[in-house]
Amino acid sequence: MPKVLIVYCSITGNTKAAAEAIAEGAQTAGAQVTIKEGTVAQPSDLLECDAVALGSYDAFSLMGGGLKDFLDRVYYPTQGQVTDKPYAAFLSHGGGGKAIKSIESIAQSFKFKKVAESVLVKGKPEGQDLNDLKALGAKIAEAAGK
Ligand SMILES: Cc1cc2nc3c(=O)[nH]c(=O)nc-3n(C[C@H](O)[C@H](O)[C@H](O)COP(=O)(O)O)c2cc1C
Repeated sequence: MPKVLIVYCSITGNTKAAAEAIAEGAQTAGAQVTIKEGTVAQPSDLLECDAVALGSYDAFSLMGGGLKDFLDRVYYPTQGQVTDKPYAAFLSHGGGGKAIKSIESIAQSFKFKKVAESVLVKGKPEGQDLNDLKALGAKIAEAAGK
């Protein structure tokens, strides 16, 4: 069973809800999903997964500290071992959304392979947002199985 890791940070729960929708989509598509907050996820989580979804809220047009903490801590311990690992990004914002660039830029530093367009949600995911997030989960599950 392909393994999908979802790492996110969330203050008021919107990004957490997005992460849970992605998890549902990935599970429905046949993946084994591990979902963790950035502050507790470990290098081994990244090394052991077949694909990773990275999510944050927008914080002053940058990713939130919890996801940045994860990416900072795991960079050296995983360097050279995660090249071409499939990834996708998601963001909850308050009307801006520029923070997605900071996630995509760091993903390039890790040499991850982008397998789906990033999903941006304003505030709490509802309606079509949830469909888009579940579809993202399905895409990353598919990429994890290849
Ligand atoms: C400190 C801080 C800075 C923020 N800066 C931005 C911003 O620059 N652009 C934007 O669109 N939203 C910004 N927001 C709004 C959040 O990204 C938005 O409310 C998001 O849905 C919160 O997600 P969460 O519930 O997962 O914490 C900011 C929120 C906080 C707390």
